[in-house]
Amino acid sequence: MLSHPFYNIVHIVGIILAMLALGGAAVLAIATPAGAVPRPTRRLLAILHGVGVFLVLLGGFGMLARLGITHSGFPGWIWVKLAVWVVVAAALFVPRRNPSFAKPLLFALPVLGGLAAYMAIYKPV
Ligand code: HEM
Repeated sequence: MLSHPFYNIVHIVGIILAMLALGGAAVLAIATPAGAVPRPTRRLLAILHGVGVFLVLLGGFGMLARLGITHSGFPGWIWVKLAVWVVVAAALFVPRRNPSFAKPLLFALPVLGGLAAYMAIYKPV
């Protein structure tokens, strides 16, 4: 049976993958004209991001199971983290469609990541 610390590492590797892919996509959108990013590069970022957000969920739900928390009674901090996850999962499409959002995204993502970490560590709600 996989342990809570194991799922925690899966969770964190997922966060690292998703965030680095989003950073790459944002910087590319700032530095290159629309349509100039080669298809293999976009594909690589999409794969890194997709695997990352999947691992965040896998690790998160794995830890929830080990903590004995079930769908019937999610505490508030989980809902906040799920909302952050939705934003992180959708954020890959933002910089290319709206290059003016690319730079703000580079500052907003660490804040959102910090909020998700705060929710898990302090569990204020
Ligand atoms: C991108 C979004 C997320 C980020 C940045 C994030 C970040 C973190 C961080 C930094 C920790 C603390 C690790 C530690 O030092 O122990 C953590 C723990 C945790 N996260 Fe997430 N998380 C995210 C999404 C989620 C989601 C969607 C879930 C639920 C499915 C979740 C469930 C958990 C659980 C259960 C813990 C462990 C809490 C404990 O051990 O008491 N997280 N998360």
